[in-house]
Amino acid sequence: MAKHRISTLFLAIIVFVLAANVSFSTASFPTFLTRKSRPTWGTSSPKPACTSPSPSPKPAPTPSPYPHDVIKGGYWPSWLAYSLPPSSIPTLYYTHVFYAFVGIDASSYGLSITQPDEQWMGNFTATLHAKKPPAQALLAIGGANSGPGTFSNMVSSPDNRAAFINSTITTARKYGFDGLDIDWEFPSNPSDMSNLSVLFEEWREAVESEASDSGKPPLVLSAAVYFASSFFFDTPRAYPAVAIAKYLDFVNPMCFDYHGSWDTSVTGEHALLYDKTSNISTSFGISSWIEAGVPPKKLVMGMPLYGKSWELKHPKIHGIGAPADGVGPGNNGIMLYSDIVAYNDEHHAHVAYDGDTVSEYSYSGTDWIGYDGPTSVEKKVEYAKTNNLGGYFFWAIGYDMNWTLSAIASNTWESMH
Ligand SMILES: *[C@@H]1O[C@H](CO)[C@@H](O)[C@H](O)[C@H]1NC(C)=O
Ligand SMILES: *[C@@H]1O[C@H](CO)[C@@H](O)[C@H](O)[C@H]1NC(C)=O
Ligand SMILES: *[C@@H]1O[C@H](CO)[C@@H](O)[C@H](O)[C@H]1NC(C)=O
Ligand SMILES: *[C@@H]1O[C@H](CO)[C@@H](O)[C@H](O)[C@H]1NC(C)=O
Ligand SMILES: *[C@@H]1O[C@H](CO)[C@@H](O)[C@H](O)[C@H]1NC(C)=O
Ligand SMILES: *[C@@H]1O[C@H](CO)[C@@H](O)[C@H](O)[C@H]1NC(C)=O
Repeated sequence: MAKHRISTLFLAIIVFVLAANVSFSTASFPTFLTRKSRPTWGTSSPKPACTSPSPSPKPAPTPSPYPHDVIKGGYWPSWLAYSLPPSSIPTLYYTHVFYAFVGIDASSYGLSITQPDEQWMGNFTATLHAKKPPAQALLAIGGANSGPGTFSNMVSSPDNRAAFINSTITTARKYGFDGLDIDWEFPSNPSDMSNLSVLFEEWREAVESEASDSGKPPLVLSAAVYFASSFFFDTPRAYPAVAIAKYLDFVNPMCFDYHGSWDTSVTGEHALLYDKTSNISTSFGISSWIEAGVPPKKLVMGMPLYGKSWELKHPKIHGIGAPADGVGPGNNGIMLYSDIVAYNDEHHAHVAYDGDTVSEYSYSGTDWIGYDGPTSVEKKVEYAKTNNLGGYFFWAIGYDMNWTLSAIASNTWESMH
């Protein structure tokens, strides 16, 4: 009950933090997609500008203390720290945990670390490292609550980028993070995108040079990005895929929020894998990243631990795309997975899996909820592994029901060869 309350309280925040909603609100659907080219996973870090003149064999790169051949990622909402302390995170299911979020100071372009961050960041990294098995701890910067304008200003000048880069590395080392994750929602034009690619190059250089100075393994660099490699609503713009492939360890496409409260005329699956009628789907998004030149191993597919609800027009017409006339239960039509399971039990809802789209939904009276459940999570993880992706991530740790979907995802990955 108390847990129920907490989740509802923070509902408003969930979607605002990592949502890709903005771009789907347009009715028109101009197609725009650009493609570019590639390098490789793990060994991708470019050499620092200064290489050793020594003729002797190169020292072996410092191995990561936490080697993983898969990324089972999850964002940890730091505002839930008291009900969901770092010690509660099951590292059997999560190999990479992202501390969500710290912001960027709008005048210095360094990270802005709040009092609660001060309190939790060191505890977060120490706890995850001490767990059996240990997990990597990454610091996620930005999120949907963080003004995109500050990111834009940060990447637009060499001084601002240098201040940001210095602050991220200093902060990561101070608190024991293994890596840094940038969550700019979203670059809004082609100039933002090209400046972002300059940031990635400089960030990588700085991280390599710091690692060679400190003798520590280089910090991991990642980014949470739009579900597809380019935006095809409003201002067309493509991510700098070449720079991403070259300078980042991996990216996390946010494969969710395809449908929601901005269109209440029909029900929708907000994270479907396949959609025969549109390009707004996870399979399209992932393919677009690969075609743009990001190696599959550097793609970590997002999955939501929350659903979206609608009010059906007619209780007997209850499929995907059925006529609707408003949002359903939850907070403005958003429900945590744990709340959906409780709702389904309480209302004896009909629960359905749709194999064409790889998604699940439930309905009771005129209430309709679309979400990822046990079967769709299993099929999506199979899709990720079959396509040789680097792994998957969930938004967000703590929204699961007793870690059921987290366990299914992890076990599915392990059971495949
Ligand atoms: C989603 O889009 C609608 C319509 O544009 C907008 O009113 C709403 O604020 C957006 N929500 C988020 C979380 O971005
Ligand atoms: C983290 O904080 C919790 C609660 O305050 C405490 O019990 C635990 O010992 C701390 N863990 C580490 C590794 O500092
Ligand atoms: C970076 O941003 C500035 C300011 O918006 C712009 O003038 C410049 O052209 C951008 N640089 C690149 C490489 O796109
Ligand atoms: C950050 O800047 C300070 C002050 O200039 C410098 O001493 C430090 O080495 C820099 N750190 C990194 C990681 O670049
Ligand atoms: C989806 O994208 C493909 C490839 O970019 C394009 O050819 C097709 O027209 C798009 N489909 C829709 C429905 O927009
Ligand atoms: C969740 O797990 C706890 C402990 O294993 C168990 O007592 C509880 O009944 C479970 N809740 C649900 C809804 O299955």
